[in-house]
Amino acid sequence: MTAPPPLDLGVLVSGTGSNLQAILDAVATGALSARVKIVISNRPGVPALERARAAGVPALCIPHQGFPNREAFDRALVAALREAEVSWVVLAGFMRLLTPEILDAYPGRIINIHPALLPSFPGLEAARQALEYGVKITGCTVHFVDRGVDSGKIIAQRAVAVEPRDVLATLSARIHRAEHELFVSVLRDIAAGQITPFSTEA
Ligand code: GAR
Repeated sequence: MTAPPPLDLGVLVSGTGSNLQAILDAVATGALSARVKIVISNRPGVPALERARAAGVPALCIPHQGFPNREAFDRALVAALREAEVSWVVLAGFMRLLTPEILDAYPGRIINIHPALLPSFPGLEAARQALEYGVKITGCTVHFVDRGVDSGKIIAQRAVAVEPRDVLATLSARIHRAEHELFVSVLRDIAAGQITPFSTEA
């Protein structure tokens, strides 16, 4: 049986890019059968763009402020992703809501990582929310993306214990480590055909 072709990924970022790095490292070591065809940030000068360039991956900044509305911004994203010939879109710390302009261009093929056990603590600062609420277990979630805030169908989750002495930095670091493993593991399953594009059809 011949192996499936590598996944062609477009990765959208807004900041540090540690999840992007985990993906780039997994590709580099052969642990993940994928090619990162393009990395796009909506914010200039972020470390994620440097990480992409250091790995020899085309890195593009498309500042969202330059567009009259979300739809116009998403059309620019789609144009760049199509140009790069990606088949799946990965949100790795991308802090923008998506519109049908991009959701319909990659139906069921956009995934996001979130630093909590959804549906708990969606939105911004999920680790801080978990700490303030006092939960003893939190974690991270990889899910398909829809129009909502961290609301699409869940693909995989990993639990992370909240330790009594945790502060935001220690808890966030532990969640990040879990995210890096979980994201790569989900992408490996997609590459192997074990996770297929999400369908809204019955
Ligand atoms: C990650 O923890 C990711 O789950 C979160 O942003 C961080 C980006 O870190 N995303 C969200 O909160 C989306 N709602 P990174 O830039 O180091 O990968």
